[in-house]
Amino acid sequence: MDSKAKATLSFSDGRPSVEFPIYGGSVGPDVIDVRSLYAKTGAFTYDPGFMSTASCKSSITYIDGDQGVLQHRGYSIETLIENCDFLEVAYLILRGKLPNAAEKKEFDHTVTIHTMVHEQLARFYSGFRRDAHPMAVLCGVVGGMAAFYHDSLDINDPTHRMISEFRLIAKMPTVVAMTYKYNIGQPFMYPRNDLGYVENFMRMMFGVPCEEYRPNPVLVRALEKILILHMDHEQNASTSTVRLAGSSGANPFACIAAGIASLWGPAHGGANEAVLKMLDEIGDVSNIDRFIAKAKDPHEVQKLMGFGHRVYKNYDPRARLIQGACHDVLAELGLEDNKMFKLAMALEKVALEDEYFVKRKLFPNVDFYSGIVYKALGIPVSMFTALFALARTVGWIAQWNEMIGDADQKIGRPRQLFLGETAAKFVPLAQRR
Ligand code: CMC
Repeated sequence: MDSKAKATLSFSDGRPSVEFPIYGGSVGPDVIDVRSLYAKTGAFTYDPGFMSTASCKSSITYIDGDQGVLQHRGYSIETLIENCDFLEVAYLILRGKLPNAAEKKEFDHTVTIHTMVHEQLARFYSGFRRDAHPMAVLCGVVGGMAAFYHDSLDINDPTHRMISEFRLIAKMPTVVAMTYKYNIGQPFMYPRNDLGYVENFMRMMFGVPCEEYRPNPVLVRALEKILILHMDHEQNASTSTVRLAGSSGANPFACIAAGIASLWGPAHGGANEAVLKMLDEIGDVSNIDRFIAKAKDPHEVQKLMGFGHRVYKNYDPRARLIQGACHDVLAELGLEDNKMFKLAMALEKVALEDEYFVKRKLFPNVDFYSGIVYKALGIPVSMFTALFALARTVGWIAQWNEMIGDADQKIGRPRQLFLGETAAKFVPLAQRR
């Protein structure tokens, strides 16, 4: 990288000033390279939550949060949603370019022939309580996959990395569906390799061995769109978790399990579940004002779930696209009068006109409408974040692979501003009061 300018840091206490190179990306804010700061000054930077810190270089996903733009490998999310299927976008995110017809056929085939899981893995499930949260089960099962596929765990071998990549992308729908089947006490459904990626997932979720299941193509396409929208979102909390876990050389299954754990939080992927709970709690349009007042109260923990984003200070483009998919699904199912959808739209309208939300640039995010679609598709609320994990696995692996190939990569090891005791006087246990 060539430095385009320099930034000078000067001190008010007489220490000499120091210079740092500034690099420009292909688009987006410049970065000041502070890697030499400690060596040159003995000081660290302080940036909890990475508000101003670029933790890596990346060429996968670009977000312009002010304009509400999301691109993967230079293509807008709107173009990809309209023209591509799930595995085509996955190929783009992973390989850096759209596949030609032969590449697509081969990629689809390779994913398809890896969809089945080791039979012993199915027994894993019986160690969990049936009412366990699906994300708890997923963390365990995906982390446990490293114990079944240790023929491909050498992260320095590109072939091993590619096999693990295929295994994870192919098996995630299978293990997510198994999580659901275990929870409701139905038999696991083996994958069917004559079906598309999303069709196969819906069959494993909703089919039973005693009868044929025919997925509705309109619903399959709507779910496919939602999954594409969740595939990657640059350096969010779970992706950064995957990168941090991977920076120590941990195997990909362990790293993806770490990502799943981070995604589970209600401020991240768990928000889609929280939105439905919130809509349930509001119950009726007449209660919106009271709820909004609570969400604005700094003394209340309740937030308007599905609103606000660290990066988007404009309408999240994914929310708009999901709103469209929501219309398609509700129309197909004859649920246009769906009370929850109407409540969500009314809530969105009130919030978008409220000074508190306007001033803080809080707009609907991807989770605001996705739960309504999932619910209409028959997916239970507790499974919502598991579907997010299924889709995001593609992004996590692409980002993990990019990190491993980056010559600047080092073990992630943040510093701290220490404010604790430094000379505590030891008192033996018997004398402590
Ligand atoms: N409801 C009410 N107030 C909010 C909300 C909200 N949803 N989001 C932010 N604020 C307020 C916040 O209290 C703060 O107010 P003040 O300046 O008076 O202290 C201000 O807006 C700035 O918020 P912040 O918490 O500093 O912003 P952040 O970038 O740290 O947090 C967020 C981003 C997504 C965690 C937060 O907006 C939030 O908790 N939203 C609700 C949960 C949610 O929908 N999460 C899904 C995110 S999108 C899916 C994903 O990528 O995982």
